[in-house]
Amino acid sequence: MSATLDHDRREGAERSWPAALRVGPTGALEFDGVDLGTLAQERGTPLWAISQSTLEHNFDELLQAFRSRYERCEIAFSMKAHNTLAVIQLLHAREAKLDCSAEYELDVVRGLGIPAADIILNGCGKSDRALSAAAELGVREVNVDSLAEARRLDALAREAGTTVNCTVRIQLEYERLLQLDASYLNAANAADKFGSDVASGEAMRVVRAVVESPNLTFRGLHHHVVFPGYLADYSTDLALAHHRESAAELCGFANAVRAELGVEVERLNLGGGIRASGSINVVPPGRPQDAAWHELPSAASFADAVFGAIEANFEGAALPLVQFESGGHMIWDAVILLAAVSEVKEAVRRGGPPKRFVYIDASAMMFVIRSMLKMAHPAFVVDRPFDEAATPRAELVGQTCLTDTIAENIELPAVDVGDLVCLLHQGAYCETTSTQVNSFPRPEVVLLSHGSTRVVKRRERLEDVHARDIPLQA
Ligand SMILES: Cc1ncc(COP(=O)(O)O)c(C=O)c1O
Repeated sequence: MSATLDHDRREGAERSWPAALRVGPTGALEFDGVDLGTLAQERGTPLWAISQSTLEHNFDELLQAFRSRYERCEIAFSMKAHNTLAVIQLLHAREAKLDCSAEYELDVVRGLGIPAADIILNGCGKSDRALSAAAELGVREVNVDSLAEARRLDALAREAGTTVNCTVRIQLEYERLLQLDASYLNAANAADKFGSDVASGEAMRVVRAVVESPNLTFRGLHHHVVFPGYLADYSTDLALAHHRESAAELCGFANAVRAELGVEVERLNLGGGIRASGSINVVPPGRPQDAAWHELPSAASFADAVFGAIEANFEGAALPLVQFESGGHMIWDAVILLAAVSEVKEAVRRGGPPKRFVYIDASAMMFVIRSMLKMAHPAFVVDRPFDEAATPRAELVGQTCLTDTIAENIELPAVDVGDLVCLLHQGAYCETTSTQVNSFPRPEVVLLSHGSTRVVKRRERLEDVHARDIPLQA
């Protein structure tokens, strides 16, 4: 399996290729120097392949763009986006801190021996176990979500005999942004269960509780901007404006904290929501004709927007340490899902044109989040030539009993059972949200680096899928 490459012919599709995906000297498709046909033959399908060079480039490029614009900054990897242990280890080895949500992610990074000073505990509704563990460990910071949480953390820290570094997660007013584009922002910022509200005074009450506690040390403020790239009216300018305004408003609140409580804000944690460089394809469900490519801002323009806003608006004694918790950006284009065609069916519906269904052994259940976010998946066929005249459009689908549409009404060459299909941009929130519907075991994860391969997560077996079952005695 190798030879001729063909791929999604929608206009601009190649723009979204990660640099590590290319046609090799023999015409075969390679990812991080590994021939994908050979990989599929040796390891089987479906499989997730991670390009180590893409992952490391994504981190290094962002950190460099940020540091060259503003010295005092750091980036944590938000492991909710992708939790393969090898990925966490590779990024931590490159200076990434770790952003963990809730106790289980905290357990995972502790198990890897990540030093407490590199760990941020995030999340809302955190359990006592998570808060106690953070207090006992002495983590880099806990992002405190509410007044009730500040009080519980205070009691747990006292019990543990420690003091805990805290940043307070806040909800901003977004007054100027709402004037700019209310519908975009309302959709991009719908998750109001997180953090404490500035406008109502709640955020200031939480900061006061932290400042007044002998067991908590107030370090700064936190605000996360949700990645809006999947919204139909996404624009690079609006995305940048969203981050710029968030940083400016965060500074405004930092100034208010200083004036009212007399404490310095040493850290501003801006969360994630960054996807810099490249473009993503968005297709409203059922409307493939409305597919659109969304250009992402460059890392440098992102840095300019955010740090420019901080320098212009922060009034503290010294400029703060600026922290990011970036998940999707690091990994989104570093992972592909390699699958094989399991059947091709011509379906004739009375009164309509025939439809060609191409079934693959992967499933949309391996990237549930993408369907939720209404993003389509450029499909790439590895080993078939594209014949414009003889290629009817196709529905690329998985085998599960759910809708399982992977790409609708796309141009796909003639394919046969066993041919390979390669889905791009499968890194962010794909494996972590995948399901085992119809008892499908989840794929193997292979790390690729300059032509070498290493299995970093074995293929799930049927016994794994049912490992928790306790059958009734016959
Ligand atoms: C608090 C917080 N930080 C960071 C992230 C990571 O976001 P992204 O993957 O868009 O970088 C999230 C995502 O939900 C989040 O809620």
